[in-house]
Amino acid sequence: MTSKKRSATGISSGTLPVIAIDRRATLPLHRQLYEGFRAAILSGNLGPGHQVPSSRMLAMELGISRFPVTDAYAQLLAEGYFESRAGSGTFVSSSLSMQRNSTKKNVFNSTSARQLSKRSLLIPQYENLPWRYGWGAFGVHQPAFDEFPFEAWSRLVARHSRRHGPQVIHHTNPLGSERFRAAICSYLRISRAVQCEPDQIMIVSGSQQALEITARVLLDTGDAVWIEEPAYQLTRSVLLGAGCRLKPIPVDGDGIDVAAGIRRCPNARAAFVTPSHQYPLGSTMSASRRLQLLNWAEIAGAWIIEDDYDSEYRYEVMPISSLQGLDSSARVIYIGTFSKVLFASLRIGYIVIPADLVDRYISVRMAMDIFPPYLYQEVLTDFMQCGHFTRHIRKMRALYKERRTALVNSIHAAFGGTIELHGVEAGMHVAATLPSGFSDIQIATKAAQRQLWLWPLSRCYANEPSRQGFILGYGNTCEEQIFHAVHQLRDLLVAASH
Ligand SMILES: Cc1ncc(COP(=O)(O)O)c(C=O)c1O
Repeated sequence: MTSKKRSATGISSGTLPVIAIDRRATLPLHRQLYEGFRAAILSGNLGPGHQVPSSRMLAMELGISRFPVTDAYAQLLAEGYFESRAGSGTFVSSSLSMQRNSTKKNVFNSTSARQLSKRSLLIPQYENLPWRYGWGAFGVHQPAFDEFPFEAWSRLVARHSRRHGPQVIHHTNPLGSERFRAAICSYLRISRAVQCEPDQIMIVSGSQQALEITARVLLDTGDAVWIEEPAYQLTRSVLLGAGCRLKPIPVDGDGIDVAAGIRRCPNARAAFVTPSHQYPLGSTMSASRRLQLLNWAEIAGAWIIEDDYDSEYRYEVMPISSLQGLDSSARVIYIGTFSKVLFASLRIGYIVIPADLVDRYISVRMAMDIFPPYLYQEVLTDFMQCGHFTRHIRKMRALYKERRTALVNSIHAAFGGTIELHGVEAGMHVAATLPSGFSDIQIATKAAQRQLWLWPLSRCYANEPSRQGFILGYGNTCEEQIFHAVHQLRDLLVAASH
């Protein structure tokens, strides 16, 4: 679409406004049209610069003669609501831009109760926190964007965008594209020792939807669930929204403390864990803990939800196999995502579902979004099959390892042992804990004003006392930036200690 054809409101030119016409009314048609346009302009629904349909087109759409339309347009032009531009058509007058009426309808102004579901109120309030969207130094969930093979990616996007036909535009399998699921299946078997068949894989819009569908399939209101303490906040939101009773179970260097979980709540319905790289503290669940957890799940008849969000990146030790791969009683639901390994705005993740639950997952998905969007599944399948995916992982692993080492060295040099680092062996972030007396939220708020994005660790805790510290992402922070950002961090801590 050319810019000439685009209206100032961003809506394509010639979009028909809602103008009600009543042929039986005593008010003549041209007057009804005039009033309709005028009201739409004054309410702000038709903005300055918006192109109105030609009189012929509007007459045709409304099934009336062209005369009342030309009369109404003439009146609106005469009064300055419309302007005509030679060779382009008729537009809502741009001189009205300063006079836009602010009497917006549909604004809550009543004192009567506006009752919401209790369910929706269980989910923590959304907060527009500065560190959530800041892009750059220490931002969490940010890959090395400038290293992404955009050329190859764009070629694949262009190729698939040009394709057309029913398979491109029509409803598809609720599990997702078969080619894509086959590619993921083979990747997971090889790199994560996941036991799966393509028909057990469901493509979803990131881990978040995987968690939401899983909660709907497996959990009821009032169910007790184990959640790591500290944990990924958005896992907690899903479980709170499902009405579950959260049982925060401490984690240590071996992952979730299964014995503590059994003492606290032996009959929990499920355990939500990040065994490959605990979020946010970074430990890897030890083999004995894994067996203990699987054993508990079998005895308690509980489910284990394995969130394997960034296991591609391990630096000192070999990739470890998934918990799902050790499970002999089909009690583990495995969740993966492309958000870390590629980028988060893709919104593509997957669930490996125990075979007997696949039908239930499909039913729940049908009630949610029916099936996943087509385009990026196809792009990603080719991206994987052409070898770009594994090449990218290999390259990023080397790069992130360098950045991780630079960060660890800089922190040690700047702080000695004052700041403790956790989870340095894997992933794209480390957790840095502070000595007592500091408030991580206060420091993070000040840091954001300096374009330094520190995620406060304390927010990952469900219970007090929480540990104060920061989750420091280094995926998108190059070495020079790391040195500078660590100095900024030191300045902030010095200022906070006075
Ligand atoms: C623990 C954990 N799980 C999952 C994800 C990914 O979520 P999504 O796939 O919805 O982007 C993240 C963040 O990227 C995370 O930190």
